[in-house]
Amino acid sequence: MSAALLLTLLLGLGCGGEPSTPNPSPSSTTTAAKATGPGRVYAPVGLGSPATPEEIAAWDLDVSPSGEGLPAGSGTVSQGQALYAAQCMACHGVKGEGGVGPKLIGPDDAKTGFGDDPKIPKTMANWWPYATTAYDYIRRAMPQHAPGSMTPDQTYALTAYLLAENRVVGADFVADAKTLPAVKMPTTVKFVPDDRDSSNVVR
Ligand code: HEC
Repeated sequence: MSAALLLTLLLGLGCGGEPSTPNPSPSSTTTAAKATGPGRVYAPVGLGSPATPEEIAAWDLDVSPSGEGLPAGSGTVSQGQALYAAQCMACHGVKGEGGVGPKLIGPDDAKTGFGDDPKIPKTMANWWPYATTAYDYIRRAMPQHAPGSMTPDQTYALTAYLLAENRVVGADFVADAKTLPAVKMPTTVKFVPDDRDSSNVVR
């Protein structure tokens, strides 16, 4: 039995066995819908509910290379150092040398690095083309066992600390929505824009 047919049958049962319209008009949906909590209205078949503004905001975190999407807040290198020790060190090593997670700190590798020798480990200094997307990644993906748990201030601090340890910025650097897009990453020049058109041809 197809899913559409099953759904139609279920809709029919829900209306006392009478044949039902697969796409009820907005007015009949409103009449039959049941509010079961603040801001939540469930459809008659009980499938899903509209996402609340808070639920959307929790997922709407992406930051572009230009810095678009960076939130308010800021963080210092020393705040990041303390957070790194508490939240990141167990997987990425005492000095960012790597462990369960990849190596994050390696100033010497930045001299050659990504694109020159595939055997050289990729770190934030020799691999990330933008400081803004490093923020984006940490905010959405780390720590690996609790992604999304770092606040904007904490993420700014961790980004500042990792950039400073990689000698990309100074120890007095304060990361925020203005300073991160202005950071010059050592390897930005090694990346080229992906100019493939829809035919997948690299020009
Ligand atoms: C439970 C282990 C674990 C913890 C804790 C953890 N990480 Fe990670 N991290 C990983 C793993 C594994 C990867 C590789 C993920 C992948 O490649 O898909 C990673 C990848 C990364 C990367 C990308 C590295 C690269 O260049 O590709 C960054 C940056 C990073 N973590 C930062 C952090 C920060 C900052 C914290 C602390 C808030 C943290 N991680 C905590 C396991 C962890």
